[in-house]
Amino acid sequence: MTGCRFLRACRSEPVDRVPVWFMRQAGRSLPEYRAARGTGSILSAIADPDLVAELTLQPVRRYGVDAAILFSDIVVPAAAVGFGVEVAPGTGPVVADPFRHPDDLRRLRPLEPEVDTPYVLEAVRAIAAELRPRGVPLIGFAGAPFTVASYLVEGGPSRTYARTKALMHGNPTLWMALVDRLADLAGTSLLSQVEAGAGAVQLFDSWAGALSPDEYRRFVAPATTKVLDALAATGVPRIHFGVGTGELLGQMARAGADVVGVDWRVPLDEARRRIGGRAVQGNLDPALCLAPWPAIEQQVRTVLREGGGIGHIFNLGHGVLPKTDPEILERVVTLVHSTPPSDVARADGANGA
Ligand code: CP3
Repeated sequence: MTGCRFLRACRSEPVDRVPVWFMRQAGRSLPEYRAARGTGSILSAIADPDLVAELTLQPVRRYGVDAAILFSDIVVPAAAVGFGVEVAPGTGPVVADPFRHPDDLRRLRPLEPEVDTPYVLEAVRAIAAELRPRGVPLIGFAGAPFTVASYLVEGGPSRTYARTKALMHGNPTLWMALVDRLADLAGTSLLSQVEAGAGAVQLFDSWAGALSPDEYRRFVAPATTKVLDALAATGVPRIHFGVGTGELLGQMARAGADVVGVDWRVPLDEARRRIGGRAVQGNLDPALCLAPWPAIEQQVRTVLREGGGIGHIFNLGHGVLPKTDPEILERVVTLVHSTPPSDVARADGANGA
């Protein structure tokens, strides 16, 4: 089997082992992250290509994962064009002057990657060069229009998305203009990351689970489709991920995904039925990583069986929780890598038992 197993799995080709990586693998649960990262704002860390390369490579070295994900954040393009967004420690993105009026569209001019985010491209080039000999691809990423819009409109994290929904239903013209601008920012950023050497991309629509299927179809799918379509000609796999999106998986697939990321609420075999033909990524509950090892082991085997061995990229159902013991993630990688795809049907004893 030639080529890297992560890219083969994205294309649903046979693999020697199911590939594995973790959302938020570069971060707070790693002591070497805390040591290298220091105390400054995450946006200044992201603007330092040497630091970004180090933070991106740390989990590859420690865990032996099959893919790296760029150390960055979903608000980087909006911040880089001067919208006015910060990332507050422990809170996430915050906006002092949230998006409210048509005039605010002017704060979202087109992104010029070489001018606005040269440090991202420098980091991607350095990381891709370092990873190439190991056959490990770098995943570039962007925030999907809805999830980024929710921060810009709410001014910070939200439980209800009340202002966001008031805008989409109350002034659909302005909402559609907003998500269209954000689609251009995400598409331009992702294309520049691929040109600099990223071998796959993931579009994070983390909070799309707040939407009904009808809201997703009317207010979100057109902009998200625009982002994923912009990547089609590159040929790199496009992963599309959200949390609580069981009822949206079909639409998320049709928006132009090659791989659909699934949280722990929907078993992967059921998810696969909802997305037709595409590969799945997921979906161990990140909270389970804090349980005793036998419970984790059982659930890893269940996820492998439901993933079916082909067209499955093993991951968590959302990001690594800060209190996770890195040793547990190491054991998860070893377990996934010790199970040949032909054995996953028997992996948790559910078949033939
Ligand atoms: O390891 C990786 O996955 C790569 C790095 C990465 C970060 N943010 C670094 C980060 C990725 C892929 C993201 C994407 C991101 N950022 C998402 C989508 C993924 C998801 O979790 O659903 C979202 C919603 C954001 C917005 C955001 N940025 C949040 C909610 C937070 C957490 C606030 C906190 O401190 O708990 C951030 C800050 C952030 N982004 C941190 C990291 C490592 C932590 C703060 C820091 O180290 O300064």
